[in-house]
Amino acid sequence: MRLIEDPNELVDTVGCALVPTMGALHEGHASLIRAAAGSGLGVVVTIFVNPTQFGPREDFLKYPRTLNDDLAVAESAGARVVFVPGVDAIYPRGLAAARAEAAVLPLPPAAHEPHLEDACRPTHMAGVCQVVARLCDLLSPAVAYFGEKDFQQLRVIEQMVAMDPTRWPALRVLPCPTIREPDGLAMSSRNVFLNAEERLRAAAIPRALLATKERLAHGESVNIGLLSEAESEMRVALAEAGLGTQYAVIRNSHTLMSAGSDATELRALVAARLGGARLIDNMEVWTRGQGD
Ligand code: PAF
Repeated sequence: MRLIEDPNELVDTVGCALVPTMGALHEGHASLIRAAAGSGLGVVVTIFVNPTQFGPREDFLKYPRTLNDDLAVAESAGARVVFVPGVDAIYPRGLAAARAEAAVLPLPPAAHEPHLEDACRPTHMAGVCQVVARLCDLLSPAVAYFGEKDFQQLRVIEQMVAMDPTRWPALRVLPCPTIREPDGLAMSSRNVFLNAEERLRAAAIPRALLATKERLAHGESVNIGLLSEAESEMRVALAEAGLGTQYAVIRNSHTLMSAGSDATELRALVAARLGGARLIDNMEVWTRGQGD
């Protein structure tokens, strides 16, 4: 496995399998790298804590940075190259210019219509689109792997790639399932911000998502009344566990908008604060014809 910091040293990445990350790699990332290695393509893992996707009061400075451990995880999961660029390599015109450019990027609907992460972190999705586009321009991957844990991000990237078919004509975006701890908590680099007591309470999130899935298990069609009751129950369960809910909603899995009668799959999505951490999670909770 090669560690590359200078983009000029990138060779033969055209047609690679890209796993973009911000480091602090855990089993969730390892599963993406293994899936990418399973494609038979050379796997390029990128590690870059992208400043433009963090808001001014967010955790950019304290985001965990664990490069040596990350290299071991990437190598054992099957990476061929780990690309660890500096800010100058990604944003050669400087960070202020990059932030200004991000603010005027044309964004796909999933980046600004659902009022989920886009409402809580208004500059976040533009920064994500900006850095993923830059990495794809530098590396020309054939496939890029994204975890379903950041479900809105996944939809945004799918739409971004589809919006500009001539820029990356052959690129496929592949989703990979969320990897969970034994109590159901979604693996996240930010779980290290939880103390032991908060860590136990955090399991209320996957419990609330599962309870929603069970509640909708027998529904044959989308029932708006039932969905809004299920959303209230999620909010109550999270509040009882002492979490500060930012959203707990059930949406059309494809558009991330409120579900109409034409929805074929529903996804529950949650964001909540707990101590010094902000946690997000989601789960598919209903599929049309699920009882067939
Ligand atoms: O999901 C992440 O870790 C980041 O948002 C990504 C896709 C690597 C862009 O910085």
